[in-house]
Amino acid sequence: MQHLGTDLARAASVLRSGGLVGMPTETVYGLAANALDEVAVARIFDAKNRPHFDPLIVHLADWNDVDRVAADVPAEARALWSALGPSALTYVLPKRPEVPDLVTSGLDTVAVRIPQLELARQLIASAGVPVAAPSANPFGFVSPTTAQHVADQLADRVDYILDGGPCAVGVESTIVSWTNGRAGVLRLGGIPVEVLSDVLGYVPEVQPSSSQPTAPGMLESHYAPGKPMQLLPHGVDWSTVNRMEGVRCVPWTPGAHGLDALTTSGSCQQGAQRLFAALRDFAASSDRELWMELAPEEGLGRAINDRLRRAAHRAEG
Ligand code: TXA
Ligand code: MG
Repeated sequence: MQHLGTDLARAASVLRSGGLVGMPTETVYGLAANALDEVAVARIFDAKNRPHFDPLIVHLADWNDVDRVAADVPAEARALWSALGPSALTYVLPKRPEVPDLVTSGLDTVAVRIPQLELARQLIASAGVPVAAPSANPFGFVSPTTAQHVADQLADRVDYILDGGPCAVGVESTIVSWTNGRAGVLRLGGIPVEVLSDVLGYVPEVQPSSSQPTAPGMLESHYAPGKPMQLLPHGVDWSTVNRMEGVRCVPWTPGAHGLDALTTSGSCQQGAQRLFAALRDFAASSDRELWMELAPEEGLGRAINDRLRRAAHRAEG
């Protein structure tokens, strides 16, 4: 039977019976399972070849359910929720014992997200359980931003893929956590740091990239297309770049250079939407190397550049 489609009831029933669903969200597609079912959660790790030290995000349909998984919710987390509502923001909170250790890799915190995409919230609500979901890609590879990407990479390792169309944001959620009462950003993502600062009244510290990560999405090598990548500074003059056969050149904006750019107008929103598909397209092509111009280092551009640096890092190492 075709296992990619738009059958919400079927997707919910797969979740309830311990199966795996390719779940659309506004950021990237997730590989979803009932977060309270350890056997189902173990299947996520197997399907992705994901190391068990890398904890999963628990997705909820509504903020009212947060107390089902979190033991305590800081006032600042509530303030962020009030300001942003369902969004590409993940909150790391003290966990309740009901959340299996497998989900949180034995940490005493749980990462919680209420996705903005309505179809995702409908799926979680109709499954009636909290939903654990990492990005639906094999560990270390580029995240999927269409249902077909999930089918291409995970094929029969997923029981049903719910097609919600291409992801509107295109990069993963921003992860925020609290230490000694102060917010910090564990992963740059769909909600720019500037937006968090506006609500918090201070600039949360962004944890530097590390090979000893608190969040393994922070691993230096991740999102890898499997071939060499070079990053060029934002604003580089492409007419001075010495182009070579077999090297794909991707500027940030179109111009006199005549190359296919990542964006049509320089918008970071569009750049984020197209980023992973561009990396995937390069990976599948016969080109041996990718030269890509960085985004401006602000707003959503910081999340784009973060992903590009990790992708390039793997390629170099
Ligand atoms: O946008 C997203 O966040 C997507 C969609 C599907 O929601 N999910 C996603 O999941 O990107 P994943 O597993 O690829 O990345 C989740 C990151 C991991 O780097 C993990 O280490 C971190 O969240 N994380 C999960 N629980 C954590 C915790 N308790 N403390 C710190 N980091 C945590
Ligand atoms: Mg991921």
